[in-house]
Amino acid sequence: ELKSSAGSLDVELTAARGRVRINGRYASMLCYNGMLPGPTLRLRAGDRLNLSLRNDLDEATNLHVHGLHVSPEGRGDNPFVRITPGSSFDYGYELPASHPPGVYWYHPHLHGTVADQVSGGLYGAIIVEDPEPIAASRERVLVVSDVSLDSAGSLRRPTAMERMMGRMGEVVLLNGQVRPRLEIRTGERERWRVVNTCVSRFLRLRLDGQRLQLLGVDSGRRPVPASVEEVLLPPGGRADLLVVTTAGTSRLRALPYDRMGAGGPGNMGGMMGGSDGGGHTLATVEAAGAGAPSPAPVPARQAQRDLRSATPAVHRELVFSAGFGGMMGRGPGGTGFAINGSEFNPDRTDVRAEAGTVEEWTLVNSSPMDHPIHLHVWPMQVVDSPRQVLDDPDWRDVVNVPANERVRVRVAFDDFVGRSVFHCHILDHEDSGMMAVIEVR
Ligand code: C2O
Ligand code: CU
Ligand code: CU
Repeated sequence: ELKSSAGSLDVELTAARGRVRINGRYASMLCYNGMLPGPTLRLRAGDRLNLSLRNDLDEATNLHVHGLHVSPEGRGDNPFVRITPGSSFDYGYELPASHPPGVYWYHPHLHGTVADQVSGGLYGAIIVEDPEPIAASRERVLVVSDVSLDSAGSLRRPTAMERMMGRMGEVVLLNGQVRPRLEIRTGERERWRVVNTCVSRFLRLRLDGQRLQLLGVDSGRRPVPASVEEVLLPPGGRADLLVVTTAGTSRLRALPYDRMGAGGPGNMGGMMGGSDGGGHTLATVEAAGAGAPSPAPVPARQAQRDLRSATPAVHRELVFSAGFGGMMGRGPGGTGFAINGSEFNPDRTDVRAEAGTVEEWTLVNSSPMDHPIHLHVWPMQVVDSPRQVLDDPDWRDVVNVPANERVRVRVAFDDFVGRSVFHCHILDHEDSGMMAVIEVR
């Protein structure tokens, strides 16, 4: 863990091939600073993060700070940077004093290589601390990832079908380990910061036999924690949880999720690789020892902004389509993964928004599979969705648009200008072209 002090944090990251031990066996993966996951960065609102990234991979890379509300220009969270092998790039990010606390993460973002590099092991968590601490006897950062390794312990290349559906790694890891044991003192309140870094896997998180107290997802914070049985994290999504366990052993699980239109006819997801069958155990949780005194109540949250009463300057419709590599009517050459009919082109600007305005976007999924849509820099407030309960302002940076459904969101472009992107966070879809450029001026 690397923690800011006196308003800044200087970090040196090196991306390189590395050998890591996964449950007693060596695996050859891609790592930041030789670690899996990379170091956790702890920041506060108002901090400056100076991050120097050295590329010791044999291919180009770059870095994205997922979910952070920082400038997309210059040496900030600029998705158009390309760092060639053997060279370095110095990023500098200024978090505004009003930056929301929560769980964020970093990963490479060079179009065409993102799924390979992230599933290869390049990811790490970023925590923006609360202005007022929440009492917990222990805080854990739980980074969930998945990977497919061959019998020699090397990264396995995905098949064409896996790229089309979005690959799901055969091994699911929690902090780089298969099903680790988490020891907890019975009755003590822990804080769990969960990050879903999987390329395509949705995590329906559940701790058997217990309820979870959900503080928020992404940068969204609830005024009071919600008591829930499970939390659905799309690829790229995060959850901030409080957990109080009863004595004994329980399992932290990811329940099965079908990305091919849950509840639809037949088992399309299972046939085509869009479902994770029986789900996965992420960790076993062992609670023992004496009960601790009951923890202090969670301090009330500042009310979040609510754009439902705003008047949008512009209404846009954005259609996300998957032509299945030409099988469904695309000509040769195109991958078929497109937004409003076009595949990603970094030289084209798809959406021009005016600084200081609020826009309403209708995200339309015209394909038979879910697409979790992610916008850089500016968070989205979900205002209408077929699946979610919208009981308070629902702020997120990854919004799942279920197969053949539509979701309405609002975005306030009230600070930061520049060019950035939005895309499907099934990173194989992003690499295949389901990404577009937004420019705010
Ligand atoms: Cu986490 Cu543009 O990505
Ligand atoms: Cu992002
Ligand atoms: Cu997608």
